[in-house]
Amino acid sequence: MKNISIWKDNIKYLNYPKLNNNLLVDVLIVGGGITGISTLYHLRNSNLKVVLVEQNKIAMSVTGNSTGKLNYLQNDLIDKIRKNFNDDVAYKYIDAQINTIDMIVDIIKKEKISCNLQKTESFMYTSKKNEIDKIKNIKQFLENNNIKVQEEKSKLVKSKYSIKISNTYLINPIKFVYGLLKNNIFSIYENTSIIDIEKENDYYLCYTNKNLIKAKKVVIASHYPYFLNPLCFPIKASLEKSYLSASKYSTNPISLISYSNPFISIRNYKDYLIYLSNSHSINKDVNDKKNFNELVSNLKKINLKSEYLWSNIDIITNDGLPYIGRITKDMYIGTGYNTWGLTNGFLAGCILSDMIMNKNNKYTKLFNPKRKNIAQITGGISNIFNSMDGYIKGLLNGNNCPTCPHLGCKLIYNKLEKTWDCPCHGSRFNKNGKCISGPANKDINVNK
Ligand code: FES
Repeated sequence: MKNISIWKDNIKYLNYPKLNNNLLVDVLIVGGGITGISTLYHLRNSNLKVVLVEQNKIAMSVTGNSTGKLNYLQNDLIDKIRKNFNDDVAYKYIDAQINTIDMIVDIIKKEKISCNLQKTESFMYTSKKNEIDKIKNIKQFLENNNIKVQEEKSKLVKSKYSIKISNTYLINPIKFVYGLLKNNIFSIYENTSIIDIEKENDYYLCYTNKNLIKAKKVVIASHYPYFLNPLCFPIKASLEKSYLSASKYSTNPISLISYSNPFISIRNYKDYLIYLSNSHSINKDVNDKKNFNELVSNLKKINLKSEYLWSNIDIITNDGLPYIGRITKDMYIGTGYNTWGLTNGFLAGCILSDMIMNKNNKYTKLFNPKRKNIAQITGGISNIFNSMDGYIKGLLNGNNCPTCPHLGCKLIYNKLEKTWDCPCHGSRFNKNGKCISGPANKDINVNK
């Protein structure tokens, strides 16, 4: 069994240098996952001098651990958006997902990106009686907006009720991101972390350990933003950890999700079945071993043997919509994709590049990261308590463990993946202490 995501096995890495000189640029993109690379891709005809820095390796963090689904039937998320906003906003969100999926597929075809694109039907099911009406409501909502939905069960899972949609897709997320870089014209630096940003006149001064990048505009595309201000991000979002497995299993293209917790997400990839489960708030449950064991034994019951096991951490926004847009005059952000990072990350790249080039984008207003609503307040309060919970769990579990350089929580060792994981805001470090996922932007000393 391998303790890496199936996408990372036998991969031929794209390699970029570490920054070792100072730079003066129009746009600095911080983060080389789907958001950063999509922004870079969409800026290529802008005549701007653009540079991207990634603190680890391109697409190897959250993007490289994702399920690779392009699907607009997204668990109970649409109910959350309807509740916190209204049907109009919820429909605009679905419309954005459908258009983005179409755009991604067009680009894959136009650029001849070889990323194992499969067209598939996607099912959403429940095995709980009290969720049947909720799924029926979603079906009705989609049909009211002229989206075709069928009542149908997949043979792959036992369910009480299930619907399906068509025109959804599956891809290999790392190959897709690499494909977007095929004709890249801009400089990219890996293993380059921005540790501080200051504003000076018309420029942001962005410091790495040794160098300075002066940038007119900065895009923070680093999953969980590095900096607390001006967005106060720990109040605006929570984090969810999920556990994934890939097992040998041959089937036609298939994509399934359950309606609500415990979330289960299933898809095929070549002759494997990828299975995600055990999602939970990172502050509430820090026992990776128990969660991996549960996943493996549940799969054993259906005769599936885990060949790959890995985990991923997603950012969940308080009101259900991602945060995409301007946070100060020349600083932009794309994050908070509520587990649907491939479509939303790609969409963020379209919106942010349009904003930078002063072009209109019909979704700009929808995802405004500075929006205010009741869910932001109630969710914010519970996020503060949850972070404190994570801090205490870190103290109890990791008295002699290293401290997270972000805000000082004690890290917990994830034995299976050999990573130090932070129970407060999800930073991850490899066994040698190198930061592989933020918001932390410094390595740790594991020998202390
Ligand atoms: Fe915030 Fe560790 S304290 S990520």
